[in-house]
Amino acid sequence: MRTLLLLAALAAAPVPAAAADVLAPYVVDGDAIREPIGNARGEPGRGRALVLAREPANCLLCHAVPDRDIRFAGDVGPSLARVGARLTAAQLRLRIVNSTLRDRDSMMPAYYRVDGLHAVAPAWRGRPILDAQQVEDLVAYLATLR
Ligand code: HEC
Repeated sequence: MRTLLLLAALAAAPVPAAAADVLAPYVVDGDAIREPIGNARGEPGRGRALVLAREPANCLLCHAVPDRDIRFAGDVGPSLARVGARLTAAQLRLRIVNSTLRDRDSMMPAYYRVDGLHAVAPAWRGRPILDAQQVEDLVAYLATLR
């Protein structure tokens, strides 16, 4: 019984992770981030799987994506058809990391940020929604949409 209580207390304890510990540094250059986050190498197949899985990124809530396996998608944001021809990898990266860096009023969630989040689910407190590898996988996938 005592062990159970201890485990419950541990599970409920907040994780004291500072932003610097969980986010790799990156440099914003205009509307782009040129270097891969955390030097991760993106892989398009994993990026596509992340989009299809819906959680935790849920791009399909707001974006249509041309893919035979996607039937339902929202239209709050523009279709991502041919987005790899419209935007460079560096521009795609900034939009996924934190779209408010280019447009304060952007409606898109900042996927690689820990501060400034309001009402986030406990699982995401102190952590970005996506890690560096997932950001790079998405960049690599979107770059194939031409
Ligand atoms: C809550 C809605 C929402 C979600 C979820 C969302 N976006 Fe967006 N996104 C937008 C909106 C709205 C825009 C248009 C510009 C703006 O408001 O920043 C946009 C713009 C973009 C653009 C630029 C498109 C262009 O043609 O210029 C890209 C790329 C993009 N989103 C990718 C993604 C990816 C990848 C995900 C998932 C990881 C995602 N978005 C999740 C709403 C969303």
